[in-house]
Amino acid sequence: MDMTKLKQQAAEKAVEFIESGMVVGLGHGSTAIWATRRIAQLLDEGQLTNILGIPCSAIVEKEAQSLKIPLTTLEDNPTIDITIDGADEVDPHLDLIKGGGGALLREKIVAQASKREVIVVDESKVVSHLGTNWAIPVEVVPFGYGSQVKYLEALGATVTVRLNPDGTRFYTDQNNLICDCQFGIISDPARLAEKIRVRTGIVEHGLFIGLANDLIVASANGIQHLHR
Ligand code: A5P
Repeated sequence: MDMTKLKQQAAEKAVEFIESGMVVGLGHGSTAIWATRRIAQLLDEGQLTNILGIPCSAIVEKEAQSLKIPLTTLEDNPTIDITIDGADEVDPHLDLIKGGGGALLREKIVAQASKREVIVVDESKVVSHLGTNWAIPVEVVPFGYGSQVKYLEALGATVTVRLNPDGTRFYTDQNNLICDCQFGIISDPARLAEKIRVRTGIVEHGLFIGLANDLIVASANGIQHLHR
């Protein structure tokens, strides 16, 4: 089965948890976007009503608007009932690496504001240890970023400042830079997260520790639902 189909299946399974009247976090990425599309379809068919979405990125905001999903903000609705989002890697504790799409800061703000964070992935994202296949994206303010690169290298990372496919520098929705930090296998993600967090100029990192409540994994053998 092709990967796109698996992503769609995982995301649409998670949409089954949404009830009318809920405030819903709309995740960023090629998996979570299927949840946004499905929500729009169910609203259109009248199977869901009174949904308010909070997008995790400017791209998702645009897509949700074009699909006519009513949107709100964390100022008007500081508590989100449920968020459906993707991940780059998931370990057996449901800890995650996120930020492959560069939206990690808004994604983490939304995740922390959510009563239920549902992560949707295809089977390729499941690993025994974080860092197996992915670097940790770290969002840094542009001022003094060379100093942050040095700090992250001192923590043991091989650092690449993210570029767009055309070679220009990638900027986040907050106009910050992303340093992709290759640490290799991470034995203690929570400890590493703490060390990254303390540095001024580092805005946030893509380690999501203890934030996911549910994990939906789609594979050729079917859909698996795990809870924390
Ligand atoms: C966006 O910044 C990310 O955290 C995504 O959720 C993550 O990269 C997964 O994206 P895909 O579903 O496109 O693989």
